[in-house]
Amino acid sequence: MSFHPIEQAPARLNRSELAVPGSQPGMFEKAAQSDVDVIFLDLEDAVAPDEKEQARKNIIAALNDIDWGSKTMSVRINGLDTHYMYRDVVDVVEQAGERLDLIMIPKVGTAADVYAVDMMVTQIEDAKGLKKRIGFEHIIETALGMQNVSEIAAASKRNESLHFGVADYAASTRARTTIIGGVNPDYSVLTDPAEDGARETHWGDMWHYALARMVVAARANGLRPIDGPFGDFSDPDGYKAQASRSAVLGCEGKWAIHPSQILPIEEHYKVKPQDLAVARAILDENSPAVFKMYESMCEVATHRAWAERMVAQSHVFGAHGAALMKIER
Ligand code: GLV
Ligand code: MG
Repeated sequence: MSFHPIEQAPARLNRSELAVPGSQPGMFEKAAQSDVDVIFLDLEDAVAPDEKEQARKNIIAALNDIDWGSKTMSVRINGLDTHYMYRDVVDVVEQAGERLDLIMIPKVGTAADVYAVDMMVTQIEDAKGLKKRIGFEHIIETALGMQNVSEIAAASKRNESLHFGVADYAASTRARTTIIGGVNPDYSVLTDPAEDGARETHWGDMWHYALARMVVAARANGLRPIDGPFGDFSDPDGYKAQASRSAVLGCEGKWAIHPSQILPIEEHYKVKPQDLAVARAILDENSPAVFKMYESMCEVATHRAWAERMVAQSHVFGAHGAALMKIER
């Protein structure tokens, strides 16, 4: 192991993160009743410019008045390149900071963007005497943000998670995609011809590099990597396939941008019973799995570290562990 310690962000359940437009207060109560870990009330892209001010008021009232239970509450502010952003931060934190756990910063491009919001939030928290420190979730969704992802991840003690915003990322990189988070058949490989000359087309995952790069930056800085949206509600299988791929890469959760996407998420980000069984066997000194590892001279310490993480994660993310992780308020 490196001598460099990695400080972990506060542990939170972040399997399912539901997006709720701030301009649609009719959806708030239902969202509060839903079975998700995190809700972000949106002031950014789901809200039209002439509705921004009212949406801000709706969100402040909702944070103060609605019983959100033990859910983690977040607000997605507008981008730092808009004139809405400063008021989003000032009004929401001043007037509803007690019930706000996280601020989601969209289209973050540099570490200085994080610094700027940190400075504002720190002043407001001090002025208002807020006891709880509000955390940050960053959406990595531009070429600039991806280029600077490591610096962004390390830019503030408030940082908790990085999210892959595939829709804006596609726009920023000019990737060819039509469905948010979907794949493109043109991103494929052709197998060599078989004896009869037949060739197969194998689709590739055009998001693999971006997601993997973000996961590395998140984990190297003790943050949660979270997969973003999948736009096609009529394709639950496509959605599940994407959730499954990002879980395999190390993501802890995924956005739900429609209530129908909530339950499938939970399934994918739980530790699978078969993985847990392998992990437990590795941690049992007397188990054949351990002898086999010594015999094959594989990296025993590495396997044990993985197994310890799996078991710990199963307590945090498994069905039984969920209750342990509810944030006390
Ligand atoms: C999310 O904000 C996205 O652009 O995918
Ligand atoms: Mg976006």
